[in-house]
Amino acid sequence: MAKPLPLLLLFLLFLTITTTTTSSSSSSSSEKLKRMKKKKITHFTVYWHDIMSGPNPSGAMVAQAPTTKTSTTGFGLVRIIDNPLTKGPTMSSDLVGRAQGFYASTSMEYVGLMMAMNFAFTSGKYNGSTVTILGRNEVFTEVREMPVIGGSGLFRWAQGYAQARTSMLNMTTGDAVVKYDVHVMHY
Ligand SMILES: *[C@@H]1O[C@H](CO)[C@@H](O)[C@H](O)[C@H]1NC(C)=O
Ligand SMILES: *[C@@H]1O[C@H](CO)[C@@H](O)[C@H](O)[C@H]1NC(C)=O
Repeated sequence: MAKPLPLLLLFLLFLTITTTTTSSSSSSSSEKLKRMKKKKITHFTVYWHDIMSGPNPSGAMVAQAPTTKTSTTGFGLVRIIDNPLTKGPTMSSDLVGRAQGFYASTSMEYVGLMMAMNFAFTSGKYNGSTVTILGRNEVFTEVREMPVIGGSGLFRWAQGYAQARTSMLNMTTGDAVVKYDVHVMHY
């Protein structure tokens, strides 16, 4: 029973070394944490283009219920979108990114959507960053508020809300432009 002792000592020594290494690296990670604690609030406005008509629609209906066509609210419809996001209200305005995700008609009583989408920026100071919006959108209401539930890049740890207001709606084609005012708290 004499042999295991040196092994135990070696193990204890190893443990001490690793503990020291961990504590020395934790000072730099606490600095990182301090930097992280500086909360920022960012507000941006983008225009979201839901293009139904013409040769290049920005989305596709991927599912519907047997009753969707007879439902006055389109209940059961699911549409995948890759909608352009622009700085101004028209498509000729600067493209800043795309809204990728889907919306589903989830109300039997009014036109109400569940929105699940990522705003992926492709230009400007937010290029490469994303925010994720998940919420309820009663489309014929003047202001619809949806939670921002996360983000990436500059918007890491994001939390916030978006307010959507219809800027243009063509009842014939279904084409719509919606202004999104997004308020994000992040680090
Ligand atoms: C956005 O970022 C990508 C990847 O880093 C880069 O290739 C592209 O040129 C950038 N676009 C603009 C408009 O800054
Ligand atoms: C709706 O779209 C149709 C077809 O493009 C167009 O003829 C009509 O003028 C549009 N209506 C409005 C109000 O923009």
